[in-house]
Amino acid sequence: MSHVFKSRSLTIINDLSIEERKYFFTKVKELKQAIVSDDKAKMDEFRINDPDFGMYEVFLEDSTRTKESFRNAAKFHHAKVNELLTDHSSINKGESYSDTFNMLSGYHNSVFIIRSKVEGLCKHLSDSCGAYAERNHLPCKPAFINAGDGKHEHPTQELLDEFTILEDNNWSYENLHIAMVGDLFHGRTINSKANGLTIFKHVEVDLIAPKELEMQEAYLQKMKDNGFIIRQFASIDAYLSSSKIAKLWYFTRPQLERMGERILQKQDELREAITFKPEFLSRIPEGCKFYHPLPRHKMFPTIPTFLDNTPMNAWERQAINGMYVRIVLLGLIGGKIGSDFQPKEEDCNSYHDEEYIFQVPEEACNTKAKKYGEGVHPIQNGLVIDHICHGETPSEIRSHMGLISKVIKLDNDKGGEWVSESSDHQFKGIIFRPGNKEFSRKEMKRLAAVAPGCTLNIIKDGRVKSKYRTKMPPRIYNFDDLGCKNEQCISSAKMGEKVPAMFYRSTDNKYVCAYCGEAHSFKEIWGN
Ligand code: NCD
Repeated sequence: MSHVFKSRSLTIINDLSIEERKYFFTKVKELKQAIVSDDKAKMDEFRINDPDFGMYEVFLEDSTRTKESFRNAAKFHHAKVNELLTDHSSINKGESYSDTFNMLSGYHNSVFIIRSKVEGLCKHLSDSCGAYAERNHLPCKPAFINAGDGKHEHPTQELLDEFTILEDNNWSYENLHIAMVGDLFHGRTINSKANGLTIFKHVEVDLIAPKELEMQEAYLQKMKDNGFIIRQFASIDAYLSSSKIAKLWYFTRPQLERMGERILQKQDELREAITFKPEFLSRIPEGCKFYHPLPRHKMFPTIPTFLDNTPMNAWERQAINGMYVRIVLLGLIGGKIGSDFQPKEEDCNSYHDEEYIFQVPEEACNTKAKKYGEGVHPIQNGLVIDHICHGETPSEIRSHMGLISKVIKLDNDKGGEWVSESSDHQFKGIIFRPGNKEFSRKEMKRLAAVAPGCTLNIIKDGRVKSKYRTKMPPRIYNFDDLGCKNEQCISSAKMGEKVPAMFYRSTDNKYVCAYCGEAHSFKEIWGN
């Protein structure tokens, strides 16, 4: 039987399917029961019990709970535990992340736990170290666990949050109504909830944050795509004045270390909006539970300490569950448990390709040369790219035509650009280039990626010889001049790691970076 979890990386929560997560939680429940009742024989069923199973911790950002619960989880397995002291490593001498981690994989380590400001680092390392393991005939391909990357994701925190919520939801996957309070913009544990909470059939999310700390647009869109019902409020006070208050509240701390000067100056005011106060107690429903990934600030906690000794306190159990969750995760990656799980076909995260370049049949082409009413003359031989940025303003169209010329390498040729009004009274751009340029499939792909919705007319002897229409490609990758605009992303040119950028089209026609999840318009991904 194949083992689907062995040596698997967890870089974002969606690396595990819903069925896999549900299976995972049954295992955590079993383990927790065994530990709580000190059932040694049952605990041993989970133990890797192998001093050669190596776990490496690399924390390039501060951590207490995540780091220590992983370390204790590894000790439970009697595994080899290492830590890279990054202050004294060659990363500081300008070595690339893949060179550093390739080397550490070579020292027979099975799993890396990495926390970093660099978004998408684990996804990149999982690919590059996999290739390294293969060419050096290492016994196993190392797994990479994202223990929090910048303001991107924190998938193991998501697993322990979901587990704790399930304990309070009577283990029901039907309905969830949850309020999320705090720094929803920088909080990576919040981002992981956009796909994480899909384990529940019907999800209502109340987002409570002042404007400056509102959830990132891309994750809000993801929640909507996932069918969540969303309401937004600027403060706890405003929320409590609404109807239908959630019983489960998830708090996140203001992430001061990620805020710019402008927001930092307003920190007291922002904190005020997201801090729970004694006078709110009479306005919340009975049986409320509060969660928090922690830490909370000793002077300005948004969940004040007067709540510690109340039944609302679920954050302490949540932190304790962190170790159980991580024991099970290591057990699955090490192949000790999980061999009884068989995925259903439809759970596999498969990627469906779709065509986006269409040749217009010859008989449908107007075989006469195109006639343009205003100012421009038909060309005898060459190309006409039409319908560029249909519906945008003339200045937007003009500036984008400059980029198209550069990307398609037409900027050294004769010819010109024109903005015209089409029959529906909207503006569109047209690029003319006399000459004999042919388009390869790769160039057609570039054209579709930089000018989706355009048509390309190849003109020969005054007639349209061939014509193509383009749509937005489902994926854009494999071009050297692409780059993610998020400077904290591993695939940003500024990072200097030479990781080729890759983007997926989202339901709202944005291009989402495969590494850091940042959404871009099709115009913003060029110019690496
Ligand atoms: C969180 C983190 O680091 O993202 N904490 C954690 O892992 N327990 C939340 C935070 O830092 O506020």
